[in-house]
Amino acid sequence: MRILGIESSCDETGVALVELRGSEVPILLAHALYSQIEMHQAYGGVVPELASRDHIRRVLPLTEQVLAESKQTLADIDVVAFTRGPGLAGALLVGAGVACALGAALGKPVLGVHHLEGHLLSPFLSIDPPEFPFVALLVSGGHTQLMRVDGVGRYDMLGETIDDAAGEAFDKSAKLLGLGYPGGPALSKLAEQGDPTAFKLPRPLLKSDNLDFSFAGLKTAVMVQAKKLAAAQNCPVEALPAQVLADLAASTQAAIVEVLVKKSLIALKKSGLKRLVVAGGVGANRSLREQLNAECTKRQIRVHYPELHLCTDNGAMIAMAAAMRLQSGQQAASEVYAFDVKPRWPLDAIQIGL
Ligand code: KG4
Ligand code: ZN
Repeated sequence: MRILGIESSCDETGVALVELRGSEVPILLAHALYSQIEMHQAYGGVVPELASRDHIRRVLPLTEQVLAESKQTLADIDVVAFTRGPGLAGALLVGAGVACALGAALGKPVLGVHHLEGHLLSPFLSIDPPEFPFVALLVSGGHTQLMRVDGVGRYDMLGETIDDAAGEAFDKSAKLLGLGYPGGPALSKLAEQGDPTAFKLPRPLLKSDNLDFSFAGLKTAVMVQAKKLAAAQNCPVEALPAQVLADLAASTQAAIVEVLVKKSLIALKKSGLKRLVVAGGVGANRSLREQLNAECTKRQIRVHYPELHLCTDNGAMIAMAAAMRLQSGQQAASEVYAFDVKPRWPLDAIQIGL
């Protein structure tokens, strides 16, 4: 069975084709991605209306590209999957509309996928896929969650952010330092030139024994520190000496990474599990990967990541999540072509038994 996956929840249009064979881990046949980053850069962030219009322009050419690369035709598609939510309403409607139109025209069923489940299951696309059960650290632009995962749809929330997500902390701090959008990759690149111990920044909720996160205070601390330095030098923050900006970036990254690593280790200890899966855009962060690898090796814990290019949004994770839901019997594809998207949709809502 071949599943076409369409991702259009935010600023990346992704399309992919995955093959599902019995009980084997589904295989990625081809995927194609168009990132709108350049278009939104001029505005310092994602402009929802522009995002929707661009998804419309990209989605069919990307679908043709995926079919050509996998040497398949529209007739070879058995199920059309799309991101149903969470995300930008207009952007989601493009993917849902195209998926439903394709499904109806081909006489094939459709399946709406939860974007975060896509991220969560994306490490199954790697050459060394994980096995259930595991602890998952889901760190995307809008979410920071620790979960116990016992199987597809069996997600037990252990802790989550009470305010900003880790990705947001990267993005907002980067903006304060004049690094533009998207901030995470830019801040982490600059951090490589800096001293992570140069500035003392808060490690929010690190001492609490629960597994929740809070990053809003960190962004404020970065702002206060940056403004203090700028006032002393009588210049705007962006005009601070390159080394000072690099030290601030490195200190910010160190604070975020330390909290993510320590809380993941507590979650592993509390659950007694020996496997950690990291997913979502922040999972691409080199410092996070290095520190998790070092700490987990000491404790004989296996860590799995998505392939670097599949950490941020893509169609492969949507096709994969659909395939795994179908394979596990969690969900059947539907011939009701009602493209009812869910811009706000907590992951708990798709748990088994709920
Ligand atoms: O998962 P994702 O692509 O989108 C959402 O579903 O939100 O995550 C995007 C987030 C952004 O906050 C971006 O700045 C962050 O992931 N990100 C990074 C890196 N690459 C992407 N953060 C830190 N270091 C990176 N290398
Ligand atoms: Zn995402």
